[in-house]
Amino acid sequence: MIVKTSDGREVPVEMYKIKIIQNVNLIPAEERLKAIENAGYNTFLVRSKDIFIDMLTDSGTNAMSDNQLGAAMLYDDAYAGSESFYKLANAVGKVLGFKYVLPTHQGRASEHLIAKVFVKEGNIVLTNYHFTTTKAHIELVGGKVLEIFGEEALNTQSKYLFKGNMDIQKLKDAINKYGKDKIAFVRMEATTNLIGGQPFSVENLKQVKKVCSDSGIILVMDGSLVSENAYLVQQRESGYKNKSVAEIVKEVVSLADLFYMSARKNSSVKGSIIATNQSDLYEKIKPWLPVYEGFLTYGGMSTKEIEAMAVGLEEMVDQHVASSTIEQVKYFVESLRVQGIPVITPPGGLACHLDAKRFVPHISQDQYPAGALTGALYIASGVRSMERGTISMDRDKDGKEQFADLEITRLAVPRRVYTISHIEYVVDRLLWLYKHRELIKGLTFVDEPPILRFFFGKLKAIDNWGRKLCDAFKKDFGNKM
Ligand code: F0G
Repeated sequence: MIVKTSDGREVPVEMYKIKIIQNVNLIPAEERLKAIENAGYNTFLVRSKDIFIDMLTDSGTNAMSDNQLGAAMLYDDAYAGSESFYKLANAVGKVLGFKYVLPTHQGRASEHLIAKVFVKEGNIVLTNYHFTTTKAHIELVGGKVLEIFGEEALNTQSKYLFKGNMDIQKLKDAINKYGKDKIAFVRMEATTNLIGGQPFSVENLKQVKKVCSDSGIILVMDGSLVSENAYLVQQRESGYKNKSVAEIVKEVVSLADLFYMSARKNSSVKGSIIATNQSDLYEKIKPWLPVYEGFLTYGGMSTKEIEAMAVGLEEMVDQHVASSTIEQVKYFVESLRVQGIPVITPPGGLACHLDAKRFVPHISQDQYPAGALTGALYIASGVRSMERGTISMDRDKDGKEQFADLEITRLAVPRRVYTISHIEYVVDRLLWLYKHRELIKGLTFVDEPPILRFFFGKLKAIDNWGRKLCDAFKKDFGNKM
């Protein structure tokens, strides 16, 4: 909930109280330097015991509610025909309006099945923006991803409220150019993750749907962040102010022929679903579920998680739940922006995104500015963020670097986990880092995997800049912080 303070500020106040806690630890800068060097400047390889505030991702790191945890204990562990599945199917019908549902172990498993069934060698998938695992699965079956975004999408200092929109003219042009038979499907991602959690408008989605229907192409929606996209629509799109998040979610997903979501985000459990109202699409995917995931009534999920998801789906469309991360992110982004720290605007869903090209403009893209900034932030704070730039792109087939459109250091805000004082700490350390940004230099690979290299790749700091940054930090904050 947003509270107006007596001096006119707007502060998001958490609409929950904390019942169970996990202690965290802040190891001193010297130890943080060692930890990040051992991890090859890759925050995926740092152990969580060495992390103070974990903003790597909002995936699988959200806090469940007491109602979710209670529901989980009612699980029915039947291999086939589990009652837990029918509760999930009911919730999917009620919240999302879909008749058919297939549970998988996580979002990328849904992507795997969708790519396997719908993408043929030489096919193209048109999307408002790719996501790493989506692209990998489409390419693994011989397809290609073509992004069709509007002019403002890559502008990191924009005021445009719907950077996740598809450019309708470009969509029509692409369909004319490649022909509908070559296009496997059109994919709309709710709050486009890799360009800063930016939403699409319902108006744009309706236009995309019309073009798809007119051309006989199926519209696939990645709804991993669908309730946050809906909250942003409520706040930003004319005609939606008086609609509830639940109503907007229903309207948005009703436009998709095929829907999938990672349940690890908006519904705070470990799992994913594919859902549709079209029996032919459902029947095409269904035979593959037991092959790759598990039987129809659990797929890749534990029945406890299925029970918790049935509750989580209803919670995610609650106004307070849908708004909580978005409002924390807005506060985070605004606190940095007013102090001149380069962040992506407008604020969107899931995270605060630092624009590394502007934060460390002296680092060229072949030395991975977002990766360097991610490592530097860990040294200066114990905060774990994620590189979402060129390291998160893989080389092309000829081994050539594919430079990312944006170099982002992403600070994800998991749901119901952190408070405003955690955010204040991160803001303060980022201010310090920005003042000392000249000390940050580039990175170079020492061990580079061939696919999704950002997960396991190891790099080192050019000219040992990590040591210099650590020494400067100790000079200002002492040996204990
Ligand atoms: N689609 C989107 C838009 C995502 O953000 C993610 C995951 C996936 C699909 C894959 O889902 O993790 O359950 O397999 N995003 C996480 C992140 C990993 O950190 O942004 P998954």
